[in-house]
Amino acid sequence: MFTSKRTDIKFTVLPKHIAIIMDGNGRWARKRGLPRPAGHHAGVKAVRATVELCAKHGVEVLTLFAFSSENWQRPVTEVSALMNLFVQALDSELESMHRNGIRVRFIGDRSSLNDELQKRMTASEARTANNPGLILVIAVAYGGRWDITQATRRLAQQCVAGILTAAEITDAHISTQLELAALPEPDLFIRTGGEQRISNFLLWNLAYTELYFCDVLWPQFDEKQLNTALQFFGERQRRFGLTGEQIAATKLHNVKGEAS
Ligand code: FPP
Repeated sequence: MFTSKRTDIKFTVLPKHIAIIMDGNGRWARKRGLPRPAGHHAGVKAVRATVELCAKHGVEVLTLFAFSSENWQRPVTEVSALMNLFVQALDSELESMHRNGIRVRFIGDRSSLNDELQKRMTASEARTANNPGLILVIAVAYGGRWDITQATRRLAQQCVAGILTAAEITDAHISTQLELAALPEPDLFIRTGGEQRISNFLLWNLAYTELYFCDVLWPQFDEKQLNTALQFFGERQRRFGLTGEQIAATKLHNVKGEAS
């Protein structure tokens, strides 16, 4: 259990893994008469705050959707501003994350990214590889369908090589070929910006995740917003296909969160 300094809300259950779609940067900027990339810059502050809070509270994994496979279709200037921002953010934040024991990982089709960014990503992963704290997964050029397609292709190759037969394939085989294979599945999904959809994020991994949507635009996502999402999570009874009575009997469920 941890107590939030800001609101003194007590949570009895914390998600091990939180996955976030950080939506609303463009609208945040437009509302202020600024170009859209200014919203992405402002979004980096919310990223920093969220990473710090998750690390402080002992969340094990935080996965952030920074750039989707579909985002390539945005105006060239915005795409290029985002790629530069990722490079800048890695340069400016890496040492502080390393000092705080955070382990950085990237998922997505990195072959589609420019060399400079790819180098930063590989170097960040190597620098923080042995850190014991929060695992920060950044999804760049990532799509859930792409992830499942990659996994399927690898399994097909194993079948062709005679390592596996088609009849032997189970969902566990697919899980082990996905980008997040070695990590626990997300317990809590958060999407800011008011839209209520998954937008090709972790399609396979979100099967039993609790989904939380809020209207706040990503640059405004702060401790209060995160606490509200955590409180929502604490109030869910996670059943994984069982009945509520079965869960109560076996105590496999998350205990109901209590707000004092
Ligand atoms: C979606 O908002 C946001 C993005 C496509 C980019 C998210 C990137 C960051 C927050 C930058 C920093 C990230 C890291 C990990 C360093 P939108 O542009 O779709 O907003 P809109 O819906 O208001 O147009």
